[in-house]
Amino acid sequence: MSFDRSIKIAPSILSADFADFGREIQAIESQGADWVHVDVMDGHFVPNLTFGPPAVKAFRPHVTTFMDVHLMIAPVDPYIEAYADAGADMITAHIEAGPHIHRTLQAIKATGKQAGVSLNPGTPAEAVAPVLDLVDMVLVMTVNPGFGGQTFIQSGVDKTRTIRRMIGDRPIHIQIDGGVTPDTAPLVAAAGADVLVAGSAVFKGGSVAAPGRYGENIRAIRAAAEGAAAKAA
Ligand code: DX5
Ligand code: ZN
Repeated sequence: MSFDRSIKIAPSILSADFADFGREIQAIESQGADWVHVDVMDGHFVPNLTFGPPAVKAFRPHVTTFMDVHLMIAPVDPYIEAYADAGADMITAHIEAGPHIHRTLQAIKATGKQAGVSLNPGTPAEAVAPVLDLVDMVLVMTVNPGFGGQTFIQSGVDKTRTIRRMIGDRPIHIQIDGGVTPDTAPLVAAAGADVLVAGSAVFKGGSVAAPGRYGENIRAIRAAAEGAAAKAA
């Protein structure tokens, strides 16, 4: 599949109805989601608990686009195989989750899945330089991980610009995660991001019974980002 740096919207199901994931995934995909972002939290690396491999396996048959699994767990290595077997298309690990991110990314690639590396707001862009040739994506956190609905951290914009420069013309996505709205999306799209995760900004005001709002929210984020990306080109 050729590399595509156009704007992609990846709703985070952390903001979905926890009693109805199958229909929520179908709803966001029918309303224009490009990827489905699955936030895995272990109550240790981040102060929240979410989805184990069995849950991700249950989501899999409902995902027809691309299942983007964000591991906010430490350690990572013991669980890579299980999330790959559960059906993840992309597995992203945090550089802060342990001392051996290079080996972790090698282990993700060895499963045949795409590999992402994620940076918390306190981690400098330069930290990913040694592993850029191993990854398919760099995830720039624009909130401190653990919850949806938080406020966007502005320093992520410059960090995105730095990472975009470091990547050059390598086929590596830049994903932004946390506080993405139609107001913040243009900032990071202009800085070079192409995959925008949004939880609260996609799910707000909608439901599986009234999914049209999901589509409106996705279109608003996409339009704002595409406009800014076109201007910055
Ligand atoms: C936070 C997660 C994010 C979060 C995004 O730790 O990684 O994906 O769900 O939610 P919003 O878009 O509401 O900030
Ligand atoms: Zn996430």
